[in-house]
Amino acid sequence: MRLEDVKRMAVIGAGLMGHNIVLAYAFAGFQVILNDLSQSILKNASERIKSNLGILARNDLIAKESIKSVLERITTNCNLEKTVGNADFVTEAVAEDVNVKRKLYNKIDQLSPNHTIFASNTSSLLLSQFGSETKRKDKLIITHWFNPSHIVPVVEVVKGEKTSEQTVNLTYAILKKAGKIPIKIYKEIPGFIVNRVGTVAFCEVCSLLEQGIASPEDIDLAIKGSFGFRLACLGPLEICDLGGIDLHYKAIKNILKTTYRSAEVPSVIQEMVKNGDLGLKTGKGFYNYDNKNDKKVIEGRDRRFLQLLKTFYG
Ligand SMILES: NC(=O)c1ccc[n+]([C@@H]2O[C@H](COP(=O)([O-])OP(=O)(O)OC[C@H]3O[C@@H](n4cnc5c(N)ncnc54)[C@H](O)[C@@H]3O)[C@@H](O)[C@H]2O)c1
Repeated sequence: MRLEDVKRMAVIGAGLMGHNIVLAYAFAGFQVILNDLSQSILKNASERIKSNLGILARNDLIAKESIKSVLERITTNCNLEKTVGNADFVTEAVAEDVNVKRKLYNKIDQLSPNHTIFASNTSSLLLSQFGSETKRKDKLIITHWFNPSHIVPVVEVVKGEKTSEQTVNLTYAILKKAGKIPIKIYKEIPGFIVNRVGTVAFCEVCSLLEQGIASPEDIDLAIKGSFGFRLACLGPLEICDLGGIDLHYKAIKNILKTTYRSAEVPSVIQEMVKNGDLGLKTGKGFYNYDNKNDKKVIEGRDRRFLQLLKTFYG
């Protein structure tokens, strides 16, 4: 299959990630069917897509008049056969549960045309853990998007042991056409690139909090206004080159032994999960939120992301 043959997309799972992946593909001109287990979930997803298009329009990323045509490219369906029966490229964004994914892959393998590529949005599972019973191991791939998927530019494209080069290259081309920055990762490794680096940094942030080194607000301010500020335009290796490798050598030598070393999840996170303090969705995380579906929080976040997007990726 060539890029010009990819006409019909399907996205399975209309949750946090799926609804915005649909938006990204429809925005780029693809026809997309969105599937989930119930009509009420799909209705909610459609409303969130509409709301996110409104935010894009208010930030001059899309003309108001074009919203209608983006929405016309999206249909929703609870029926798996109708969703994948004619699909050229399926993105799977269902729960991060190996059994749920395995059952789904076995079903869609039966229901999809032979040429269809299946791209999983898994953050931590291996293709072999849920795709090993399908007949199309050469057409299984991971496309790992970042929340909010319609805004964050990078998508990690991860090759499984049996994924063909053709599948990698076509997936890469599809994501390019969708305006994304695809990153090819040639070997499955838990967390790929971004979440591996992020996990180490996040555990250290938790450790600083636990030790009472600074307040949550000051830790966030410190990272946003320094590390984050630089990382928005320079990669860590570029930063290292510009600062001097000798200086980094000394800093690593002096600091590394005192940083977070445990193989356990930091206890502050364990406690919050135990107490049900899960962030915005429960109204309480490191900060408090008045309303767990606070549209203002999301719009405020997206406005800042979109400013960055225009500045660095205009
Ligand atoms: N949340 C993130 O920031 C993030 C980032 C990158 C990748 N991911 C990955 O993306 C995937 C989805 O994560 P999410 O955060 O969107 O989850 P979510 O819980 O918000 O959404 C999952 C959706 O899948 C649906 N679903 C479950 N089983 C299904 C089935 N058999 N058929 C159709 N729909 C089904 C659920 O009803 C739900 O709407 C996971 O693999 C996750 O690891 C998440």
